[in-house]
Amino acid sequence: MDEPFLLVQLSDPHVGADWIDADPLEQFAAAVESVRSMPQAPDAVLVSGDLTEHGADAECEAVRETLATLDVPFHVLPGNHDVREPIRRAFELPGEADEPIQYAVDLGPVRLVVLDTTIPGEDAGALDADRLGWLDAALAQEPEALTVIAMHHPPLVSCVPALDRIALALADQRALGDVVGRHAQVQRLVAGHVHRVMAGQLAGRAALTVPSTYVQTQLDFSMEEIELADEPPGFGVHAVRDGELSSHVQPVART
Ligand SMILES: [Fe+2]
Ligand SMILES: [Fe+2]
Repeated sequence: MDEPFLLVQLSDPHVGADWIDADPLEQFAAAVESVRSMPQAPDAVLVSGDLTEHGADAECEAVRETLATLDVPFHVLPGNHDVREPIRRAFELPGEADEPIQYAVDLGPVRLVVLDTTIPGEDAGALDADRLGWLDAALAQEPEALTVIAMHHPPLVSCVPALDRIALALADQRALGDVVGRHAQVQRLVAGHVHRVMAGQLAGRAALTVPSTYVQTQLDFSMEEIELADEPPGFGVHAVRDGELSSHVQPVART
């Protein structure tokens, strides 16, 4: 049987952060090493935001250099800790200066459509009419292409107060669902931001978050402030074969 097309999803490396003793760049490099040692090489890599802690050029460059060691195409999007302009510069992304970073890329068996859910200077997320209008038009261009939508803030309610306080606005989640509902080819929405695995649905399509490569959050449904968990970092692996998509989560190998 043919091997599937593999889209690896790394998330929330937070290069430049000092939340814990571990160095986020070393942690990210360890995740990349885990990807490199997979039995099947990935075909493309996505990093679903919070690449950096402060949005600095040097932080972006460190992420880019680490990703480049994998020698496969990589695609990034901004999180609330990133700054659009340096990310756009480092990764040569389309658009101007600090406008939202949104683009679609044909990976072959899967089309990746990238959304920018950030609000500059804030931790919560938003999708305004312009960004959703762009998405509607982008999806209308390729109605037959199996599509994964990637974003930083998940289009899901976590039921964890500390996480829902910095979530994508609920009205915007619903507006996104209205757009997605018009496009049958969207099979998955993938995100990061919550630093743990969470699954749900939007407009009947599965939505999934993957772990951070840096540090995880506690699963505590009464948590008012984010508390960190000593749990393993990991990454997502989205496998496509014959138009079927399955999503896997793999812990980073211990070194
Ligand atoms: Fe994050
Ligand atoms: Fe985030």
